Amino acid sequence: MNETKWSLLWSHADKHIRFGASAAGGVGSVVRTRTGVPHKHGEHLVVCYDGRMSENKNSGELEKKIRAIFATPQVAALATVTDEGKPWVRYVTVRLSEGMMLLFVTDAGSRKVAHIRGRPDVHLVCGSLQPPEDSAYLQIAGRAEVSGDPEEKRALWNEELRRYFKGPDDPNYVVVRVRPSLIEYYDPHNLTPQIWTAK
Ligand SMILES: Cc1cc2nc3c(=O)[nH]c(=O)nc-3n(C[C@H](O)[C@H](O)[C@H](O)COP(=O)(O)O)c2cc1C
Repeated sequence: MNETKWSLLWSHADKHIRFGASAAGGVGSVVRTRTGVPHKHGEHLVVCYDGRMSENKNSGELEKKIRAIFATPQVAALATVTDEGKPWVRYVTVRLSEGMMLLFVTDAGSRKVAHIRGRPDVHLVCGSLQPPEDSAYLQIAGRAEVSGDPEEKRALWNEELRRYFKGPDDPNYVVVRVRPSLIEYYDPHNLTPQIWTAK
């Protein structure tokens, strides 16, 4: 079996941690990048294998690809944090609005709203749902807030919601906004994400 050696380097110059990997059997080194480990002070550390850095620049192309996934409302798995500090995940139907803000509607009395009010950090995954589907997918980290804004509620209202709410002005009907801090965009069959970060 080939032995892989790992090395870790903290760079003061650009505040990045780098992992280096070398395989003794000459197989070559692993090239994968991952980001999104939140730093204590709210920064994002970029962790790179094989010294390759993931660019922390938002290209218009990347935003277009992210928006293309949200061309129609997307079913997303939304993770919140319970009062006990444990993860809890469920499906929600998400739209992408201006300024890369994610929106979904829900019940003011739901668990997710209680979780978000206690701890607004959330994580979502959406896009390709079923193997062997060949579509891109997203991992999204952000902070959520609950809005009872009447205009926003009306803008997202549709008559199917009458199954759950009396109407657009029902106080139980609320909108959750998620402001992403990090979006990882994955092309199918490529585990190296393209990274979008909030400015
Ligand atoms: C495909 C699908 C889409 C859903 N979309 C929403 C949604 O947009 N908002 C919502 O509150 N619940 C939605 N649900 C129901 C939630 O997954 C969940 O069961 C419910 O909101 C209660 O969650 P909670 O107790 O964690 O708050 C959806 C369920 C499915 C299966």
